[in-house]
Amino acid sequence: MKTTLDEIVSLCKRRGFAFPGSDIYGGFANSYTYGPYGTALKRNLKDLWWKLHVEQLDNIVGIDGDIILHPRTWEASGHTATFNDLLVDNKDSKKRYRADHLIEDQTGIDVEGMTPAEVTAVMAEHEIKCPVSGSTNWTEVRHFNMMFQTEMAKTGDGAMAYLRPETAQAIFLEYKNIIDTMRVTLPFGVGQIGKAFRNEITPGNFLFRRLEFEQMEIEYFVREDAWEEAFAQWQGRIKRWCEIIGLSNERLHWAEHADEKLSHYSKRTVDVEYEFPFGKKELYGLAYRTDYDLKQHAEHSGKKLIYRDPHTNEVLVPHVIEPSFGVDRSVLALLCDAYAEETLPDGSTRTVMRLAPVVAPVKVAVFPLMKKDGLPEKAHEVVAELRALGVVEYDQSGAIGKRYRRHDEIGTPVCVTVDYDTLEDGTVTVRDRDTMAQERIALGALREHLAGKYFVTPSL
Ligand code: GAP
Repeated sequence: MKTTLDEIVSLCKRRGFAFPGSDIYGGFANSYTYGPYGTALKRNLKDLWWKLHVEQLDNIVGIDGDIILHPRTWEASGHTATFNDLLVDNKDSKKRYRADHLIEDQTGIDVEGMTPAEVTAVMAEHEIKCPVSGSTNWTEVRHFNMMFQTEMAKTGDGAMAYLRPETAQAIFLEYKNIIDTMRVTLPFGVGQIGKAFRNEITPGNFLFRRLEFEQMEIEYFVREDAWEEAFAQWQGRIKRWCEIIGLSNERLHWAEHADEKLSHYSKRTVDVEYEFPFGKKELYGLAYRTDYDLKQHAEHSGKKLIYRDPHTNEVLVPHVIEPSFGVDRSVLALLCDAYAEETLPDGSTRTVMRLAPVVAPVKVAVFPLMKKDGLPEKAHEVVAELRALGVVEYDQSGAIGKRYRRHDEIGTPVCVTVDYDTLEDGTVTVRDRDTMAQERIALGALREHLAGKYFVTPSL
């Protein structure tokens, strides 16, 4: 049976992955707080991404730029003029929509690249109805810039600023500093993880489309004639990343953008789409940004953003390949992929999150069989012994079966139970989340056994 988004949302609330935001004030539309397990999952994902893409690849360095950059950044990048969605209001329901989404949902027609006037005409011709009022009483379709504006305390030029809609631009702004301080030679990349903000007209689908979200991005600088090779190399790396974090290959698809769908800066974009419960949607993007950004910032700032070949002294403006990974969409895809409901041989059912150990919020759970007779003390010793593997949780409340079920729902790959035999022969029961098979392992060999079976560090 197909997993629904409601099942995922409910498990997230029940088990502390994500809560509806500002709940004590009656909630705040489309806002969510990552709970302790969601936070751990997200942190594991970001740490792993940084380790594999920035620390372990030879020619990548990392930066941590500001959310509020000089406002002229967005003029140069083209976001002020073109980072727009098509907005339309229904005069009866007073509801606001993205016109392109309404039209696509009701007719399957893709209006990408059309002007607001043309889209208004399509709405009329196809009698697009408001999902709430059912009427066709619309305003004209108009452009709506998706950047969040904010006012700075200082007055005069630059008083109005924007929250960055993508992390990428800070990398272009620091291009010269990177060239001047790091011994980078082409091809090389600059990675960054951070928040981005978009005033989405219709956010929704839980963590999928949010007003604030996180991105993990790399701007990979290459010679122009090497862009195709680099693009293919990054496609391979993205595929491998998806495999490492545990996304099912059969739910992932590559979607090439048609020319009229390309962003203003891109000559080629391929999305990685994932089969979410609400349809096949963009998870990540890979774009060939050409030399657009460096040239734009050079022109607007008056600074030279160039590369000088250390051997030949040739001067050129590098071209850019950009793999862009959404953190929140990764978390949602992982939760959807991991979720399973199973009927067990005894007829009972269980919900289990089959998260890859590398991203699982709790690595090992340790239970004393009883809350007495020295079993808790022994279990605490086991916790201390296993800490090097990551988060190890101690749990002594309730029947042992219930404790297993709780950790199945959290996605803990392995549970260790300390019982009376442990005190006699120094062995513990190790229970595998996925197969539910149990084995006895000697305490002296436990950490190595778990490290080798569950926690082998992957590489790209
Ligand atoms: N720098 C390129 C860029 O920002 P994008 O396709 O607009 O490209 C990249 O965004 C990724 O950021 C997407 O593939 C998605 O994972 C994530 N993303 C974009 N908008 C989002 C939103 N409103 N909520 C959550 N994630 C979002």
